[in-house]
This record gives sequence, structure tokens and C-alpha cells, in this order.
Amino acid sequence: MSDQAASLLDYYRKNHFNPVPIDLATPEALASHAAKRRNLYSGHLGIPLGLLSGQKVLEFGCNSGENAVVLALCGAELTLVEPNEQVHQRLRDVFEVFGLTGRLAEVSSLGIDDFPEDGKFNLVLAEGFLFTLPNKAELAAKICRLLAPGGIGVISFNCRFGGLIELHKRLALYRACELSGAGFRSEESLAIAQELFGEAFGRIKASRPFAAWWKDLLVNPFYADRYLWSYGELLPVIESAGAEFLSTSPRWFAEEAMRWYKDVPAPGGRNAAVLEQWRGRLGSMLTGKPARPGFEADGAAGPEVVAGLEELALAISDYTDGVRGLEAVALRGPLAEWLAAARDENLAGLAACLKAVHEALPLEDAGAFRAAVKAGGLADLWGSAYHYLSFSRGDGLL
Ligand SMILES: C[S@@+](CC[C@H](N)C(=O)[O-])C[C@H]1O[C@@H](n2cnc3c(N)ncnc32)[C@H](O)[C@@H]1O
Repeated sequence: MSDQAASLLDYYRKNHFNPVPIDLATPEALASHAAKRRNLYSGHLGIPLGLLSGQKVLEFGCNSGENAVVLALCGAELTLVEPNEQVHQRLRDVFEVFGLTGRLAEVSSLGIDDFPEDGKFNLVLAEGFLFTLPNKAELAAKICRLLAPGGIGVISFNCRFGGLIELHKRLALYRACELSGAGFRSEESLAIAQELFGEAFGRIKASRPFAAWWKDLLVNPFYADRYLWSYGELLPVIESAGAEFLSTSPRWFAEEAMRWYKDVPAPGGRNAAVLEQWRGRLGSMLTGKPARPGFEADGAAGPEVVAGLEELALAISDYTDGVRGLEAVALRGPLAEWLAAARDENLAGLAACLKAVHEALPLEDAGAFRAAVKAGGLADLWGSAYHYLSFSRGDGLL
């Protein structure tokens, strides 16, 4: 398997794999998939699914269309943009099977870069790839420009902070492969990953098989520092493109929902509130779990902790890219102190696990290293690697 892919699209094309193989073959499978998507779209991201009938929806990078089917079932009129033509036949078949072909306004083979800006849409989605493109910020702004007044945009991204655990899984696999003389992207690596993480993966509600997760995350060349994103980077982009924060998944910023409806934030106030609040959620983003009542303050971090996390993410990314040596990877300074002081049990558990992984890194024996990683409990921690952000364009009424 080559790791020379110039883009994520290349990676999928060369490896002939469907990164998100979603089963819709039985009514139960469709119902289960639709329930997850409704929860995401409506429950987390604030998209009014009951009002989508006849609305223009644009989805970039829709893969074989299984998510778009759920929007089509709500009556949306879909423009689907998917440059990987290998999946177009399945996409058309999926729509045909559900009698939804009439809801397809267009299926385009263009990439998001080349898609024309002459139309406006009520909902624009770019899920699972935008962060891998070199001009990701410009493309996020393009999504804002494609929104009709009152329209909603959705972007997903690999979070630099929420992905700390995934980065450590990648780190542990890379080191285990190095010690065993196995190629990082070889079949042997898949077997090592199975040994380290397979059982725990089987315990979560994953939609895809272990091998797809391994290929799309643990060894994916596009899971590297330059492809990670954060709210601190994204919100200013959305703001300068004239859109306003609506929601996220997980729903990190839900305070406003608990306020009196007449207590309306000033224009731009939602973006500003999130930029101010996100460091207060850092512990939960890292662990992927809410803090224990009374220990919420443990998860709030100062800028020096954030800087330590950024440094560590870059070091792991460089090491697993073969750019820097293992000595670059260290848990130290204000970040190590902050983690060591955690009293919230989830954050303290994460701190202990990361310490165990870092202490194991210098081991020279492959078996001893794998045993230490397994004993540290990394496999059962998940964090919040993957986030969604929804935003809306002013409705132009005032
Ligand atoms: C990880 S898959 C995600 C599929 C689906 N959106 C989801 O989230 O389940 C990423 C998709 O983005 C597509 N993609 C990659 N580069 C793209 C680009 N420049 N413009 C539009 N789509 C792209 C890939 O072909 C692939 O189908």
C-alpha cells in the first residue's frame, strides 16, 4: 500500500476502499443509520429536518450517498459533489433502491475547489475531508458564501485537542511497528493494531469494520498535525465570511439553550462566546466525557497548557511521519503538571494512561512495549477526535 498519496482523494482511489462503508441493506440497518443521522443533524447540529422538504441541499464529499439518503427521505432536493467516481454507481444504486432518484438534482464529479459559486443552498455540508485540503480555511469561507439567507453550513474536522488519545494510539502503533520491524502501513501493522486495540473497538458502536478504522485513522497519512483543526482557528474564519456559530457535535456549548429566549446575544456574540469558552471545556474534549459534578474546573486550561498540547500533537505527528525522532515526543512542562493535578476521575484516568504510554516508549523489547500499552488502558479511551461545527448565515430579514 502506498503512502505517497497527494490528497485524501488519491489515498481512497489508490487503495480502492470505501472509507465509510455504511450498510443500508435491511430495514433495520436503514432505521439504525437514520436514527444516528437524525440525532447528529437535528439533535446536535440544530438542522430542522421537518422543514427540509423542497429545500436545496448541497453535500460535498458525500461518498456513496448513504448520509444524503437520510436528507432525501426528509424531502430535500440534493446536489451531491463527489470527485471519487469509483463510488458514483453505488450512490445511484442506493438512491434507486429507496425510490429517491427524483430527489437528485445533480451528481457532480468536481472537487469542492472547482465547484461553481453561482447557486445558493439552504444547507451545505462538507463532512470527513475538508480539513485534509491545503486551503481548508478558504474552503470553509466558500461554504459560507454558498449559503442562502438563513441557510446552515456544516463542517466536520479532526480536533487537535479531542484527538490526543487517537494520536497516542497512532504513536503506540508506530512505535510497536518500529520495534517489530513492521511497515507502519503493512498487513503486519493491522495485526499489531488488532492486538492492541481490536477488542476495545469491538465494544463501541462503530459503523465500520476495524480494518477501515485502522486505514482511515491510525495509519492514514492525512491524520497529521497540519490536517488537524480547532474551534480557535475555525470560528474567526466563519465570522469573517459572515456566518455565525449555531452548534457543535458533541454539543460543547449549550448554555444559551438554558437562557430566557429574550436574552439574545449581540450580533457576533455567539462566535465570541465560544472563543472565550472553549478552553473551559478542554478536559472534556480530551477525555470525550463530561467532568464529574464539582470537578468541572479541573478541565479548564490556561494558554500554556494549550500550547503544550499543540507541541505534543506536532511532535507525535512528526515522529509518526518519520520527520523527527522519538526523543521529540515528551509529556512535560505545564501540560504534564496540569494533567498530574487532575482530580476529575476521567481526566485523572487519562493522565495515568498517557503517563504509562510515555514511560513505555523507551522500551526496546516489542512484546514488553505492547504489554505495557495494553496494561495502560489506552485502547478503551476514545476522547473526542472528530467534531462537527454548524453555522448559519443571517436571514436577511433585518
Ligand atoms: C472520509 S469520506 C467521508 C464521506 C462522508 N461525507 C461521511 O462523512 O461519511 C471523505 C469523502 O470526501 C471526498 N473528497 C475528498 N477530497 C474531496 C474534495 N476536494 N472535494 C469533495 N470531496 C472530496 C472523498 O472522495 C470521500 O468520499
